[in-house]
Amino acid sequence: MPVFDHFALIAPIYARVAYSKTDVMREAASLPVRGRLLDAGGGTGRVASAIRGLVDEVIVADVSFGMLKEAPLSALKPVCGGSESLPFADGSFERVIMVDALHHVINHADTAREMFRVLKPGGVLVIEEPDIRTFGVKLIALAEKLLLMRSHFLAPDEIVKLFISGEKNIKTEDGTAWVIVRK
Ligand SMILES: C[S@@+](CC[C@H](N)C(=O)[O-])C[C@H]1O[C@@H](n2cnc3c(N)ncnc32)[C@H](O)[C@@H]1O
Repeated sequence: MPVFDHFALIAPIYARVAYSKTDVMREAASLPVRGRLLDAGGGTGRVASAIRGLVDEVIVADVSFGMLKEAPLSALKPVCGGSESLPFADGSFERVIMVDALHHVINHADTAREMFRVLKPGGVLVIEEPDIRTFGVKLIALAEKLLLMRSHFLAPDEIVKLFISGEKNIKTEDGTAWVIVRK
């Protein structure tokens, strides 16, 4: 649990100011698919809402109650908790995604292990992260440090190394990286 929840402060406006390419996520996660999708570190459900129609059920898990409060409860099932210890059985989801959240978690390795554990065999996991190798993202990382956000960015190949098994691929575009793992 973070000492200070920066996201609870910005939660009411977050979905209006944040942006990501959901069309790339849709392709990276091989959507649509029948079954359940977990959006880990899913915040206000911004991304989950955009892909809601492409799966049977979406669950948004996040450590910030303030962010989850802004999620549309009728469409998404919010679960409050850290991604380092997910409250789901092994192989519960056809798809697992994490968007712009890996650099905020306390423990990358535990988060990767848990997301892979709850993924069904044959399922796809996608981590979307700002690409720390680019100048613009280095500036964002500096700004987050100044705001005492405790962020820790990993390069795409470092994210890949968090996964011991699975078929792994990296896609990059305009300062964003998608690490795709098929179990
Ligand atoms: C930049 S926001 C991204 C939210 C959402 N994925 C999106 O793209 O709209 C990062 C999110 O990661 C969440 N977060 C930080 N540490 C976490 C952890 N250990 N487990 C789960 N979520 C975490 C924050 O609460 C926040 O909602």
